[in-house]
Amino acid sequence: MSAPFHYATALDSSLKTAAATAGFDLALFAPEVRVAAAQHGDFQANGVLAYAKQTKQNPRAAAQTLVAALPAELTALADVAIAGPGFLNFTLKPAALEAWLAAYATPSALAAAAASASPIAGQTWVVDYSSPNTAKQMHVGHLRSAVIGEAVARIAAFAGARVIRDNHIGDWGTSFGKIIWAYKQALATDRAALEAALDATPLEEFERLYKVGNTAADADPAVLEASRAELVKLQSGDAENTAIWRRIGEVSVSAFQKIYDLFGIRFDHTLGESFYNDKVGRVYDEIQACGVAEESQGALVVFHDEHPRFSRHAERPNPFIVRKADGAANYASTDLATILYRAEHFAADASLYVVDKRQGDHFEQLFLTAQKWFEKTGRKLIRLEHLGFGTVLGEDGRPLKTRSGENIKLKDLLQEATDRARRLVDEKSGELPEAERAAIAEIVGIGSVQYADLAQNRSSDYTFSWDKMISLEGNTAAYLLYAVARLHSIFRKLEARPGDANTEAAATALETATELALARKLVQFADAQSQAVATLRPHVLCLYLYELAGVFSAFYGADKVGVDDAGVRARRLRLCARTLLVLETGLQLLGLRTLNRM
Ligand code: ARG
Repeated sequence: MSAPFHYATALDSSLKTAAATAGFDLALFAPEVRVAAAQHGDFQANGVLAYAKQTKQNPRAAAQTLVAALPAELTALADVAIAGPGFLNFTLKPAALEAWLAAYATPSALAAAAASASPIAGQTWVVDYSSPNTAKQMHVGHLRSAVIGEAVARIAAFAGARVIRDNHIGDWGTSFGKIIWAYKQALATDRAALEAALDATPLEEFERLYKVGNTAADADPAVLEASRAELVKLQSGDAENTAIWRRIGEVSVSAFQKIYDLFGIRFDHTLGESFYNDKVGRVYDEIQACGVAEESQGALVVFHDEHPRFSRHAERPNPFIVRKADGAANYASTDLATILYRAEHFAADASLYVVDKRQGDHFEQLFLTAQKWFEKTGRKLIRLEHLGFGTVLGEDGRPLKTRSGENIKLKDLLQEATDRARRLVDEKSGELPEAERAAIAEIVGIGSVQYADLAQNRSSDYTFSWDKMISLEGNTAAYLLYAVARLHSIFRKLEARPGDANTEAAATALETATELALARKLVQFADAQSQAVATLRPHVLCLYLYELAGVFSAFYGADKVGVDDAGVRARRLRLCARTLLVLETGLQLLGLRTLNRM
């Protein structure tokens, strides 16, 4: 029997076939197949209820008619029961579970299956994430965008999308006039000291210069004026100022990359706001000509009169300002130019923005504006989505800060994670060589930070807790990484190899309740993966992996793997191999590195 990757989809289409046979009005019938709570079998379809209600039938009678019409392919796969007022419960037959295990045995088989069953296969998706501002070190607020963005990018790519990772850095704007002013002051005062600082810790030094310039400009209107003049020179292409600005960009991006390396992040493009600087003129012309934008008090603005808050009739009219009254571009202008560029240059089908949910208004207005503009100019609309995330809170429930009230630098946070993980590793695995313990600590430490972030629903605020995060208990990275390491050690001890052809061939039919439960859970990988794509929420996948590791533990506790009976041993090794495959694949989709030994 060849197995569908996604049994829920296969059940859905069989139910539609049955509905046609039974004479249902197909326009009114949606099967709505979902993964069921364990006591209801593997999947439940509850679409019959809605159908019966609309067509004024008795739901149980309608369910019976449908069941009687089920095609043989379906009854070969699953046992069907009518439950409650008219739910259909499906329990996959052991043969269907075995067929799935046989069919999806390698990383490439899983990936090919995920892509072939996917609604986004072949689409081009731009994922805009991390996107910090230059001349500033990344702080904990930038963690979520980087971590969630990378997971979303991997999840989309696994589902067959062509993913373009774009780091939309903030490298343009008034702050650069202030930094350049402060830089020139420092140069004039003590050139050697400035150069030494820029050599040693360049990003920290530019961050410091920004603060100096900012404070001075706040205190002294003459400095503010001088910084503005530096900005104007930069904007008109002055060679000296452009060179300083370039250097700021370079040192910032190379410091960012050190952090990205720890997370395994590689951007395809780092097209910052400055890249769009010469592309905004076309936007102004078009959106004004097509009537989407209008002049108001010197600025170019967009109202959305159909919207309660962005209408000109709102209590406090809050238009989307796309060109400032002084003629300068802003965040909105460059973001509009960016959408056009992504549509034209990348032929993107979708552009996703992994950005703090507090920027929700900006994105809502941006998307409304882009949609109207594209529609009026006869362009193909692209899917625009803001994947907003909540704030990282300290255990006191307030935004996470250092004790002295400053933003926590991401670099320091990741170092602390590694140090804490090191203590755990030393305690649990003191016998491993020093270098290996250091390597494990880095993977567990960084992975813990990533996973704690991903395991939360991204739109919620999340409370940062070292103790919960770096723990072998609960829905944590260490728990899952440990499960992976333990699976590797089972193979080492039994001198076996995951996926070994002879073992696969020798496997006998699944029998025990724990074997069957594990096989059922493995099959659900397809649902977790497709749900993560549909919702663009990585926590769906985290929860699944956590449950899988739990079901595996129960199996491993109940059913000995290294038994003498060759057939039983082979089928249990096969379950171990698939659990390992799914755990490693899932963790990789989340952006974590895994370990063979821990
Ligand atoms: N640089 C911005 C910030 O730090 C985020 C940019 C997000 N991307 C975008 N296309 N607006 O808040």
